[in-house]
Amino acid sequence: MFNKEVYTTRRNELRKKLKDGVVLLLGNEESPYNYLDNLYHFRQDSTFLYFFGLAMPSLIGVIDIDNGKDWIFGNDVDIDDIIWMGPQPSMVELGARVGVENIDQLCMAQNFLINAISKGRKVHILPPYRGDHYLAYEKLLGIRPSVIKNYVSIELIEAIVSLREIKEVIEIEEIEKAIDITYEMQLTAMQLAHPGVKELEIAGAIEGISLSLGNPPSFTIILSMNGETLHNHKHHQILEEGRLMVTDCGAESLMHYAGDITRTVPVGGKFSPLQKDIYNTVLAANMKVIENTKPCITYQEQHFLATRTLIEGLKNAGLMKGDVDAALEVGAQTLFMPHGLGHAMGLDVHDMENFGENYVGYNRETQRSSVSGHRSLRFGKGLKPGMVITDEPGCYFIPALIDKWRAERMHLDFINYDAVEKMKGFGGIRIEDDILITENGCRVLGKSVPKSVEEIETVMAASREKVLAAVKSGERIKIKVLG
Ligand code: GLY
Repeated sequence: MFNKEVYTTRRNELRKKLKDGVVLLLGNEESPYNYLDNLYHFRQDSTFLYFFGLAMPSLIGVIDIDNGKDWIFGNDVDIDDIIWMGPQPSMVELGARVGVENIDQLCMAQNFLINAISKGRKVHILPPYRGDHYLAYEKLLGIRPSVIKNYVSIELIEAIVSLREIKEVIEIEEIEKAIDITYEMQLTAMQLAHPGVKELEIAGAIEGISLSLGNPPSFTIILSMNGETLHNHKHHQILEEGRLMVTDCGAESLMHYAGDITRTVPVGGKFSPLQKDIYNTVLAANMKVIENTKPCITYQEQHFLATRTLIEGLKNAGLMKGDVDAALEVGAQTLFMPHGLGHAMGLDVHDMENFGENYVGYNRETQRSSVSGHRSLRFGKGLKPGMVITDEPGCYFIPALIDKWRAERMHLDFINYDAVEKMKGFGGIRIEDDILITENGCRVLGKSVPKSVEEIETVMAASREKVLAAVKSGERIKIKVLG
């Protein structure tokens, strides 16, 4: 964890933003996956981590706005816990590490909150996103799950978003650690992407890198030759020469900050002329955003810049036609890019989306578009120094979507359906970097993962023979074959 002043300062900053009352922050609980003692990897709630820093289960934090006190409710371990888990620091020691002196047992949180409510004090709560949260709110506050949304504090959400969206220097360092691990994951995926290798082998190898250098990945790895499926978690195929492979992955640093990078590579190491053409269009969209992103403009504008670049490239490739502005206005590019340009990133890979996307990505000045495709943009509002967002344009040829649009005669003025029909089986391309908004522009965070056609082909040419030899000899692909 960071030093205790980081957490006390954050809690005091939150106090300045709220009028009165108490803030209740639930830590997460362990979660069993097939029986009670066999658990999913534990992940603390990110807002709890941000204000209280402790990454273990079954804790409740309270920030009292009116009297400047903070509380952590949690139980010391008993001898049975020590037998299974080893010795653990006391709750008082843990509290001291994050600047909290007021410690009490978990069961006392309920008395504390009922007492506050009985005095007419407001209890600020965040939206629940796990079943446990609903149960905890019912137990602690007597609010039934079906009506909990009526009690969520918008004032608290807005206050926390305004703090967490501007990353401190120590947070940016952590995000860069996560991205540097992600660099290792991406480079390994690129080196291994040769015919005969199983997608599973690559997905497993890169998940292992995240685990061995940090935590489990910040989200489930997306890796497939069927990159036209935006979030493809099936890794059952054997790589075939000449197909494209999309890898979208991110590590989580030891301090729980996320990375999120996507690269698309040609299996075997050589882009075909058509692949190169579409790839360079997506790359141009990604690069134009990097070149033009700066404070005070909106990310919605950058989304339009990226999608306009995509339309221009697809028009040159004969897949789209007509007036670019008119196509952009009606969202005709949605056939090829049915998602937005990017999302905020930090402790969560989609930072704070548990509060609701619009609280994070939009505000009174920038409203979400109602136009198909553009409405999928998760983060569109004005940019400020310290924000971290992803820049991830893509181009996909989704057979079912092509068929649907064609049957519905969608945007006939802008889509060359006969040409698009021939692209079925092409797959998809996504290129993603994580960018920090600086005082004058933006900076791509972390080590630079090979991205141009030439860089990717050079990396892949260097690993090809070793990987093919390993495949031929039947040796299971291990990272050691890369030498
Ligand atoms: N890169 C994965 C996601 O944005 O959900």
